[in-house]
Amino acid sequence: MSNALKEYLSFCQNRVERALEARLPGEQILPQKLHKAMRYCVLDGGKRMRPMLTYCTGKTLGIEPEVLDGPACAVEFIHVYSLIHDDLPAMDDDDLRRGKPTCHVAFDEATAILTGDALQALAFETLAHDPTITASMENRLKMITALAKASGSQGMVGGQAIDLESVGTKITLPELENMHIHKTGALIRASVNLATFAKEGIDPSAAKKLDQYAKCIGLSFQVKDDILDEESDTATLGKTQGKDKFNDKPTYPALLGMAGAKQKALDLHEKAIESLDIFGKEADLLRDLSLYIIQRDH
Ligand code: IPE
Ligand code: IPE
Ligand code: MG
Ligand code: MG
Ligand code: MG
Repeated sequence: MSNALKEYLSFCQNRVERALEARLPGEQILPQKLHKAMRYCVLDGGKRMRPMLTYCTGKTLGIEPEVLDGPACAVEFIHVYSLIHDDLPAMDDDDLRRGKPTCHVAFDEATAILTGDALQALAFETLAHDPTITASMENRLKMITALAKASGSQGMVGGQAIDLESVGTKITLPELENMHIHKTGALIRASVNLATFAKEGIDPSAAKKLDQYAKCIGLSFQVKDDILDEESDTATLGKTQGKDKFNDKPTYPALLGMAGAKQKALDLHEKAIESLDIFGKEADLLRDLSLYIIQRDH
C-alpha cells in the first residue's frame, strides 16, 4: 500500500469511528440489548473500505470530509447490517466476523435480525436528518434514493437472494458477475456516488467517470473476497476461511480457476484506472485504493 493511502486510510478510519460512535444510540438507552448489539457489530472493526471510498471521492472532487461523515456512516451501517444477516444460520451460517463471534453467536438469532433491521433504518435516518450534510434537499433525496436502490431487491439484497439460490447449482460466468455486481458492487458504487451528491454543481461527466470506476472496483472487491476465502487464513481474515467451498458457493476461483480469477481482478483494476483518465493527481488515492483492493490480504 502506498504511504499516502496508508496515511489517508488511517485518517478515515479514525474519523468514521468517531462519526459512527456519535450516531449510535448509547448502551444505556432502552432496549439495552439491541443497542449493545448494534455497537458491538459496528464499532472497532472492519477495514472501513466504503467510508474510505466516500472520503476519497470527496478528496478527488474537492469536498471536505466534514460534510461526508453522514454518507460515510450511512453506507457503513448498511454494510454492517448486510454482514450480520449474511452470517445468520439461514444464510452463510458463520460464527466469526471481524475477529469476533458473529452477532447471532454473541447475542442470539432474533437480536441479530433486529440489529440488522435497526442499522438499516439508522442509515436512512442519517441521510435524511444528519446536520453535517450541507447538500440541498434535492441532493439529499438523491443520496437516499441511491442508497435505497443499492441496498434493496435490485441491489445488495437482490444479490444475496441470487447467492442463496445458486448454492449447489452450476451458474455461468455472466450469472456470477451479475450476482457479484449486486451483492457487493451496488453498495460500493453507492459509496462513491453519495459523495458526488454532497456538493452542488459537480460536473456530470466527472460523476459519470467516478461511477464507472466504482463499478469496476465493486466487482473486483468481491472477486478478491472469493480469492481470499480460498487462499488466506482465518486469523488474517477475521472470518472463517474456506466457507465458500464448504457451502458450495459459486465463486470466481471456482469458475475461472485461481489464475483466471486473479487475472480478472487485474483486468478490473486496469479498467478502474482507465475510468479515472480525466482526473489528475487529485484522484491518486482512488487509483491506489483500486490496487489495494486487489492486493489486500484480508
Ligand atoms: C466483506 O466486506 C463482505 C463483502 C461484501 C465482500 P469487507 O471485506 O469490506 O468487510 P469488513 O467491513 O472489512 O469487515
Ligand atoms: C457477502 O458476500 C456480501 C454481502 C452482501 C454481505 P460473502 O458472503 O462472500 O461475504 P463474507 O465472505 O461472508 O464476508
Ligand atoms: Mg454470503
Ligand atoms: Mg458470507
Ligand atoms: Mg466471501
